[in-house]
Amino acid sequence: MNPLHVVILAAGQGSRMKSDLPKVLHSVAGRPMLHHVIGTARQLGADKIHTVIGHGGDKVRATTTEDPVNWVVQDEQLGTGHAVAQALPYLPDDARVLILYGDVPLTRTETLQAMVESLDDDTLGLLTVTLDNPQGYGRIVRDANAQVTSIVEQKDAGKDQLAIREVNTGILAIAARHLKSWLPTLSNANAQGEYYLTDIIAMAVERSLKISVSQPEDPFEVQGVNNRLQLAELERWVQKREAERLMTDGATLADPARIDVRGELVIGKDILIDVNVVFEGKVSLGNNVSVGPGCVIRDAVIADGVQINAHSVIDGAVIGANAQIGPFARIRPGTELAANTKVGNFVETKKALVGEGSKINHLSYVGDASLGRNVNVGAGTITCNYDGVNKFQTVIGDGVFVGSNTSLVAPVCIGAGVTIGAGSTITRNVDDNELAVARGQQRNIKGWKRPQKSD
Ligand code: UD1
Ligand code: CA
Repeated sequence: MNPLHVVILAAGQGSRMKSDLPKVLHSVAGRPMLHHVIGTARQLGADKIHTVIGHGGDKVRATTTEDPVNWVVQDEQLGTGHAVAQALPYLPDDARVLILYGDVPLTRTETLQAMVESLDDDTLGLLTVTLDNPQGYGRIVRDANAQVTSIVEQKDAGKDQLAIREVNTGILAIAARHLKSWLPTLSNANAQGEYYLTDIIAMAVERSLKISVSQPEDPFEVQGVNNRLQLAELERWVQKREAERLMTDGATLADPARIDVRGELVIGKDILIDVNVVFEGKVSLGNNVSVGPGCVIRDAVIADGVQINAHSVIDGAVIGANAQIGPFARIRPGTELAANTKVGNFVETKKALVGEGSKINHLSYVGDASLGRNVNVGAGTITCNYDGVNKFQTVIGDGVFVGSNTSLVAPVCIGAGVTIGAGSTITRNVDDNELAVARGQQRNIKGWKRPQKSD
């Protein structure tokens, strides 16, 4: 098949966003709109992606580094036809070209697939949608045989044309060689003084190309974003769609309207997700995982049977089977909890490897540490990992019992089977099976009298 080149228009100012951030960098489902569109182009198997930028172009470029695209600068925004024309020098004659928009983020790949696959020299693929309120959109004009003859912009339309409810989504596919011969001939003699890409429809009809029209399953797929209200509408739509997918895949959602997935969530079976849970980045949940209300889970791998209780935050962590977390736990990046571990309320972990069956049940900070199996960390334990300049490791062997309110001043190694007395400040290594107590001796003063207030 001929190479597929995708041209994404993203040069407009987006002034109705009232924002310093270029419009196409505003996020839907946790990702800038433009990145969704680039992702769609990739999924379609684009050989090359050209993004036309103008307003805020430097910021757009700087934010879009992981996925290389060809940046095409449109200095002045003279219309959609002019925008596409800027990319012409980069389009090989034999390419199929798909035009997408940086502010139309949620078009499904399936919707575009047929359009680009069936494209040949004699066809123009056009994506249209029929709306109850077509206000503002270009109208699809058809002849008596229902064949598309042209697109007329709202501002150029007569009364009869304004009544047409089938509108242009802007998305179209056409052979590069046609664009190369037609775009330079566009005129801006219209109500907006712009070079309209839509004028190529009439040119294609005149040259007897077939106009192959398709429609999306859902109008939200082609909904553009001009302001923050539309951004929020799209966000709710994509979240609803995601919630439906999760339920279809085996998750029970306490309320499908109160879950937010801002990234990729992969799930097993028999998942329970309570209200107001936010997933970010790449998260996978095994079978029989339950997530309590108000949790935030980002970039985490969570094994079967894990129970995450209310208001816990998990970020950059690997959680082993049947672990129990929270309520109110904070699991920070680099934490790996083995199977059957427990991390309870008001516990913070960071770069902590916690062995099978170990428990940190309450009010502790465990960072830059490795714990063996079946360790019991008492309430109020702190790994003092930082001297103000450097970070140091705490290593704790299997079966250690750490008494409550212990400070472990790293670097320090605690041997297997050690018991640490409550309230200790441990600054030296402890050998296997020893008892370490490091605290002031208790003195009881007999016959002591409280000071009395003098009158
Ligand atoms: C365009 C279509 C209209 C369609 C509507 C769908 C034309 C002439 N009209 O109208 O038929 O119903 O989209 O939303 O194409 N852009 C540039 N450079 C420019 C002009 C625009 O990059 O010089 C980009 C904008 O950033 C925007 C997109 O192209 O993302 C559409 O431009 P806009 O001016 O909003 O087009 P509409 O008037 O809405
Ligand atoms: Ca416009």
